[in-house]
Formats: sequence, C-alpha cells, structure tokens
Amino acid sequence: MSDSDDNGLSRRQVLALGGGLVVLGSAPVSTLAAPHDKGADESPVRRTVTSTVAFVVNGRRRELELDNRTSLLDAMREHLHLTGSKKGCDQGQCGACTMIVDGQRINSCLTLAIMHQDAEITTIEGLGTTESLHPLQAAFVKHDGYQCGYCTPGQICSAVSVLDEIKRGIPSHVSGDITAPPQLTSNELRERMSGNICRCGAYSNIIEAITEVAGERA
Ligand code: FES
Ligand code: FES
Repeated sequence: MSDSDDNGLSRRQVLALGGGLVVLGSAPVSTLAAPHDKGADESPVRRTVTSTVAFVVNGRRRELELDNRTSLLDAMREHLHLTGSKKGCDQGQCGACTMIVDGQRINSCLTLAIMHQDAEITTIEGLGTTESLHPLQAAFVKHDGYQCGYCTPGQICSAVSVLDEIKRGIPSHVSGDITAPPQLTSNELRERMSGNICRCGAYSNIIEAITEVAGERA
C-alpha cells in the first residue's frame, strides 16, 4: 500500500498537519480572539457621549448633563422629575408625551433633548396650579374630559396649542376655506386633536371642554 495519497501527501505528512490543527484548536480563546477584542471597551457604540443642555422649563432655567441619546421626554421625566408628561407608546403615535416647545406642541418622545438648547418648554406642570387651574384644566374637570387621566396632560398641552392655531387663523386638513378664519366646529377640533389618543374614549367630553374655552376666547 502506497504511503502517499492522490495529492502527493504522505500519511505521515497528513498526520503531522492534523496534529498542528489540533494544537491550534486547543489554543486559549483569549489568544485567538485577542486581535478582535483589542480596544473593545473603546468602541464608539459602548462609549457614552454627553453634552450640557440648557433650557427654560416652565419659566425656570435648567441645565443638565445628558447622554446625547436622551429624549426630551426622558430629560423631563427622569432628570427633572416632571412626570406630568406621560410615556405612552414612546414612538410618536399616542400624543401622551405632548409638550409645548417654543410655542409649538411636539411629541417629546421623538426628539432629543440636545436639539432644544435654549428652548422655552412648557409641560403640564407649567400651565396651572392646583389653586389656580389653567382654563382648559378647569374645563376638563367640569366636562369630565378624562377617566384614567393618563392621556390628559398631553391632551391639554395639545389643546393649548390648538387654541393658539385657531387664534392665528391656521387652517387644518378639514377647513373648507383655508383663507377664512377657522370655524370652531367639532369636526375642526377633532381633526386638530387627532394626534392625541384616549384609550378611555373620553373624546366627546374633551371636545366639549375645548369648545367651551375656545368659545370664551372667540
Ligand atoms: Fe410620545 Fe406616545 S409617548 S407619542
Ligand atoms: Fe384614560 Fe384618556 S383618560 S386614556
């Protein structure tokens, strides 16, 4: 029997090569992985990058050192302990996190805090006090515009913005004549408030509350 295979390698050579692979296979994992693991702790994915952010929240200047990935909602809730704004979906679909930034309502879960350097931010805590409710807060109480109340801070911040839009004559998708002042119809208000979901279904009472305040301001 020949001592060589078709490739011309001798049985002795094949055994020697196999032995070498066994030795390689038994090498410590740390030795084998060293080139890959080197500098793993320096990975940009693992490193936390922070920035100093300053804004005016409910009339008070606040400065925070934040992970750049912090949402505005988390900055308010977790760092300033303003827990009135709620985290419902955390993906821009429910409106529970609505707050007013530089005069406009936004879904604060969808925006980074560092994008709002020097902004003026109003959360539900900045609208009224228990002794002196904002007119919309009082109207929500009067018209039973809530049940569990989870969506209510976002609804009220949104309604503040809606009243401002109407006052400034900004039309909506359901405005019949975009050159005329917006009408205070239920249809208009429902369209403008459509980004705020209420799982308790208090919609008709919410519209009554907003209609009352809007009527008083007309
Ligand atoms: Fe922001 Fe739902 S929590 S839209
Ligand atoms: Fe419960 Fe709106 S009052 S979700």
